[in-house]
Amino acid sequence: MKKNNIILIGFMGIGKGTTARAYAEQYKCFIIDTDDLIESKENQKIKNIFDKKGEKYFRELEQECADWILSSVDNTFISCGGGFYNVNNLKELGVVILLDASYDWIYKRLSTAENSKAKLKKRPLFSEPKKAKKLYKEREKAYKKVADIVINVEDKDLKSVIREIHKKVTII
Ligand code: S3P
Repeated sequence: MKKNNIILIGFMGIGKGTTARAYAEQYKCFIIDTDDLIESKENQKIKNIFDKKGEKYFRELEQECADWILSSVDNTFISCGGGFYNVNNLKELGVVILLDASYDWIYKRLSTAENSKAKLKKRPLFSEPKKAKKLYKEREKAYKKVADIVINVEDKDLKSVIREIHKKVTII
């Protein structure tokens, strides 16, 4: 059985956090972000966790986070890190919505953002665009496989994206 949450997944830099914040403002719900939860729990930035403890440790934290959501979170819009789709209980956490766009569009969005340097720096797996593109290709199908709903965001404005989410999921 699914919980009453929206689980927003998708590749790094596609705009999950931005979408979650706009949704919460428009439709007055609570939002949480799995990367923020992990940073708070560990009291350090994601980049530091990767540097000091490695990716495997970070993935374990994502699973712990998913287990906590399953036991303790409801009626919430949850924005997830790009690799969170891999937790073993994802489908139980809520309705899984995938934000989808081409790699080139995502890269352009990130690299032309006002604070693009910071946005790229905080994402260790984006430090080499070639590797990031490879990761995108590896995950493309897997994202679609776990998603209940796919929303293409390429060249759409934020308002229409959140309207589309709200139309398709009325649980929160
Ligand atoms: C990751 C994406 C990041 C963050 C971490 C790993 C990934 O989140 O969780 O750097 O594996 O795709 P964003 O998708 O918010 O950038």
